[in-house]
Amino acid sequence: MAMDRLITLHQPSRLDIGAGAVSRVGAWAAGAARSLVITAPAVAGLVERLGLGGDVRVFSDVPPEPDDTALAAALAVAADFRPDLVIGLGGGSVMDVAKLVAVLWDGRQTLAEVVGPDRVAAKLSRLAQVPTTAGTGSEAGIRALITDSTTNAKMAVESPLMRADLAVLDPELTWTVPAAVTAATGVDAMAHCVEAFTNRRAHDMIDGFARMGIDLVGRYLRRAVEDGTDTEAREGMMLASYYGGICLGPVNTAAGHALAYPLGTRLHLPHGLANAIIFPHVLAFNAPAREAKTAEILSLLGLPDTPEPDHVLEATHGFCRDLGNEMRLSAHGAVDNALPAWAEEAHGIRRLMDNNPREMSVDDVLTIYRAAY
Ligand SMILES: NC(=O)c1ccc[n+]([C@@H]2O[C@H](COP(=O)([O-])OP(=O)(O)OC[C@H]3O[C@@H](n4cnc5c(N)ncnc54)[C@H](O)[C@@H]3O)[C@@H](O)[C@H]2O)c1
Ligand SMILES: [Fe+2]
Repeated sequence: MAMDRLITLHQPSRLDIGAGAVSRVGAWAAGAARSLVITAPAVAGLVERLGLGGDVRVFSDVPPEPDDTALAAALAVAADFRPDLVIGLGGGSVMDVAKLVAVLWDGRQTLAEVVGPDRVAAKLSRLAQVPTTAGTGSEAGIRALITDSTTNAKMAVESPLMRADLAVLDPELTWTVPAAVTAATGVDAMAHCVEAFTNRRAHDMIDGFARMGIDLVGRYLRRAVEDGTDTEAREGMMLASYYGGICLGPVNTAAGHALAYPLGTRLHLPHGLANAIIFPHVLAFNAPAREAKTAEILSLLGLPDTPEPDHVLEATHGFCRDLGNEMRLSAHGAVDNALPAWAEEAHGIRRLMDNNPREMSVDDVLTIYRAAY
């Protein structure tokens, strides 16, 4: 049993789930005088589906993988508008910015002052989260990730004050996600589940969510990639993403995400794609330390379930590649002599590396980058 560790689980105070659920936001928000919608160009057209009344302002400039300058632009609009409600309508990039806007817009605390756990002083606006990708599960949790524009490192802010008052899981909003983004974000959802499940800090309750998430990815990710309007597949992936978000809270990820981060910040790969490239290598590396759970993961994904490392690598690499993910770092513009510095950087992300079930040295990380090259 892995229940001896005491955990706290934060979830949105209300969840609306199902096709068309987005139209409920307006009734829930009734009474809000000033609603600020944080969104991105690709999904700004969905704003009217929220059915908002009152004074509404839309900030639609959130870029993928936002940095502190992108956050500052959103905060400037919010400081001027003084919203009593903030709504994140978009992927993880948008929802993370919305979380921070809801607690920072009055300027009393800076981003630098809140990086880390439990440093946010006050919640300034109610918060609703409406995901339009199925991947990060950011709507389920209390963490926000922002890139530091000077160091390129990802900064993590964590606070129960960034918990959503409402989260809406409406799979119809994900119909327009392109196949490549569907594949990459779907692997991100799976990686959250897998890395929590095989984690040194794994917990029986979170294992339950992880199993459900991995099973849904095994059944539905390929279908969602092949046909974006496959409602059942989109529903399944939206749930998998949410379950993955729950896994991130009390357990979190491990070496997989640590090794993926430099690929996002240095090579500018989308978060999900970076995870897809790294995931098979780390699962295979960890297999000797988690044989039974590795076999279970393979089985849930519909793959032959021998936990032998070479097989694990081959089978899961094939799974990710067959979804359309280009799995070679060299094909994404990586240069061989950059890899040692990335290995040092990934190895230094101790908040995640210390969760890994098997000790990984800088040389181990470099070997994985070279194998993925
Ligand atoms: N807070 C957390 O717990 C957590 C967890 C994992 C990742 N993240 C962060 O989330 C970010 C990545 O989020 P993501 O993977 O959802 O990608 P994203 O939000 O960057 O979106 C990817 C691209 O798809 C577009 N898009 C979004 N929805 C669409 C739709 N319905 N139709 C068409 N296009 C659409 C976006 O505009 C963007 O160009 C990263 O910054 C990552 O670090 C946060
Ligand atoms: Fe992730």
